[in-house]
Amino acid sequence: MREPRPAPIILGIETSCDDTACAVLDGDGRVLASVVSSQLAAHRPYGGVVPEIASREHLSNWPLVSAEALERAGVRMEDVELVAATRGPGLVGALLVGLSVGKAVAFALGRPFHAVHHLEGHLYSPFLPPPKTAEAAGALPESFTGLVVSGGHSSIFHVEHGVVSTVAETRDDAIGEVFDKVGKRLGLPYPQGPKVDELAELGDPTVKKMTVPFPGDDLFFSYSGLKSQALLEIEKLERRLGPVDLSSQEPQQEVLDLIAGFRAAAVGQVIDRLERLHRRSPISVLAVSGGVAANRLLRRELPAWAAERGVDLRLVPLAWSGDNAAMIAHAALLRHRRGDAGDPFSAEAESRIPL
Ligand code: KG4
Ligand code: ZN
Repeated sequence: MREPRPAPIILGIETSCDDTACAVLDGDGRVLASVVSSQLAAHRPYGGVVPEIASREHLSNWPLVSAEALERAGVRMEDVELVAATRGPGLVGALLVGLSVGKAVAFALGRPFHAVHHLEGHLYSPFLPPPKTAEAAGALPESFTGLVVSGGHSSIFHVEHGVVSTVAETRDDAIGEVFDKVGKRLGLPYPQGPKVDELAELGDPTVKKMTVPFPGDDLFFSYSGLKSQALLEIEKLERRLGPVDLSSQEPQQEVLDLIAGFRAAAVGQVIDRLERLHRRSPISVLAVSGGVAANRLLRRELPAWAAERGVDLRLVPLAWSGDNAAMIAHAALLRHRRGDAGDPFSAEAESRIPL
């Protein structure tokens, strides 16, 4: 006998970039299963994501990934009562795979379908329960400030009763993108962000301090200046030390210090913008999400910053910081709770869409 689960059982699908992900949640926001199949090996030879390869990998991975998610959740496909898939932003060919599968499943089962914005998934992900627990999702505050730091975004949002308004965005590169580019220049394999973070732990950030740009009265992020500064510093270093290629060399201390200086400025900019915002209008709840929310320095500095100011910090559990489908299913559950009946099957995949 199957135990009854709180309705609705939600199937979440995420294929916006290079992870094929499927998750099953129950109506209390419990994560019954979350499977993420990484395509790292397929893209690594190229140093970044190749869109055509991503689409093909999603197609071939989906049957196994979905079967595993359903099996782990102890749910049959016909038990699914709500289907959600990411519609964008992301790589159109990659998005199309998950979106088409989601629509097909919802149509076949006669269930509502939600075409979810990728950032909507990240934004609410700090309220997901930690992985491998039987906990329900946390209650959503009436209003909160959301910081999303990822490979595609460095953004601050204000969320009030499900209505999202943008407070700050990047004028150029996103924070994660710059971690990746600096790491790539150093010869690190894709995705470089986590590795740059790991190496920064071994360096002294005070040796090669880098600049946090000053936005005047504004709050916008800007990371292209920091990227150029880091790349220039690498060039300078190479004139003295010879070529730096961490794919075949052990990093010298000067390289580690440079990386640490870069990371300190990247994270420093996040803290700076939060401080400016907090001074302007005090933040009560801060929900932090996105791939870069896994950054070790950010995860040390944010709790200290928040505690000193009495800000209620909700830092996304590590398991949900990178792309996953639990956050997509969760976003659909929140929509469902707000009385949203779902999207038409004509919802299209889009590479760029505002939240
Ligand atoms: O949210 P995510 O998985 O995908 C996007 O929506 O972009 O974020 C991926 C980004 C990549 O740029 C990756 O290098 C970065 O997050 N990232 C990190 C760390 N872990 C992942 N950046 C800095 N430090 C980390 N520990
Ligand atoms: Zn993402």
